Amino acid sequence: MKEIIKEYTNYMVPFYAPADFVVKKASGSHVWDLNNKKYIDFTAGIAVTNLGHSNKDLIKILKKQSEELWHLSNLYINEPSVTLAKKLCKNSFADKVFFCNSGAESIEAAVKIARKFCSSTVNKNKNEVISFSTSFHGRTMLGIALAKAKHLTDGFAPLPRGIKNHPYNDISNLEKVFSDKTAAVILELVQWQSGITKADKKFIAKIKKLAKKHKALVIIDEVQSGIGRTGTLFAYEQFNITPDILCFAKGISNGLPLGGILTIDKVSKYMSTGSHGTTFGGGPIACAIGNKVIDTISKKSFLNQVLKKEVRFINLLNKINEKHKCFEKITSAGLWVGVEVNKDSKIQIDDLIKKSHDNGLMILKANASTVRFSPSLIIENELIDEGLKIFEKSIISLL
Ligand SMILES: Cc1ncc(COP(=O)(O)O)c(C=O)c1O
Repeated sequence: MKEIIKEYTNYMVPFYAPADFVVKKASGSHVWDLNNKKYIDFTAGIAVTNLGHSNKDLIKILKKQSEELWHLSNLYINEPSVTLAKKLCKNSFADKVFFCNSGAESIEAAVKIARKFCSSTVNKNKNEVISFSTSFHGRTMLGIALAKAKHLTDGFAPLPRGIKNHPYNDISNLEKVFSDKTAAVILELVQWQSGITKADKKFIAKIKKLAKKHKALVIIDEVQSGIGRTGTLFAYEQFNITPDILCFAKGISNGLPLGGILTIDKVSKYMSTGSHGTTFGGGPIACAIGNKVIDTISKKSFLNQVLKKEVRFINLLNKINEKHKCFEKITSAGLWVGVEVNKDSKIQIDDLIKKSHDNGLMILKANASTVRFSPSLIIENELIDEGLKIFEKSIISLL
């Protein structure tokens, strides 16, 4: 394993600080490294493999589709993409879908569509986008410009213009960032970077009111919150807001690169042939898998299980906190859990992640004081219990 890690350092651009083991295989919510050490996975590839690793039903679809058709470009229609687009529309507010490959590209598409819409319906000066602090919208120039945080933007100027960033969940002076030049407002209804923080009711209500007043489109970034993660197919269903454009990716194809946007006819009718596109987006293999993912995850009985497992996580974490007084805050939205460590505990998040790995549990960072769990949505109750025992053991060893 050491040799591969050395080669990784030798040959990879150092954008990541990966764990100090090399993954060999994974199944369900278990992962094995090259030494056959077994881990419980509370990450699911950063909220991606929602139906578990090496899912047998998905493997069957992958095999069948790969024998029929891999790739054809968007100059020819492939059936799995049309079926998936129809399913996404039938299960949401949307009339139309555009497929791309990743979350960042879905953000790019959403903002381009909003600007195109406004330039067609009003004028080209209606092009500003309002975004919020502690958001995350991917690593493209546009994504980092929207998020605006120094750790994302440092060294990459000049960034795209026409963006106004306002504090998240803060309604004071929000009306001042909106104007008749506002083309769109973009937000996550649950932010992970601030530790699984939900948008307040008043914040949502004010955004809706101001967007309506200034004829601005509402873009909701559900790249991470979508596809069942929060206990509904999309998080907006719980927040009394309907987007004009919704961005999705991550869980839609359980690990194959697929993303996209959902929108309404009122907006899509202003898009024209050739004004946007992609080579790989909406490929038949990723979409064939996406069809099974949506069939499975959109079932009420499936989503209810997600909410039940959320309660299990929270109850067990509260018990750990009662014993050790180690957490400042525990937050959740479905199977998306943020655990902020107690300020006095002096626990460093990177140490907690490393200790958890050593003890056989994979977890994620949300920010400097918060870890994040985003397990597969089908994780077994016994693995939740076992994983949290490992988490408790890891915490104790750092207290
Ligand atoms: C909310 C949100 N938006 C956008 C992105 C970017 O997605 P991708 O990494 O697929 O480009 C992410 C990725 O973590 C995300 O969490």
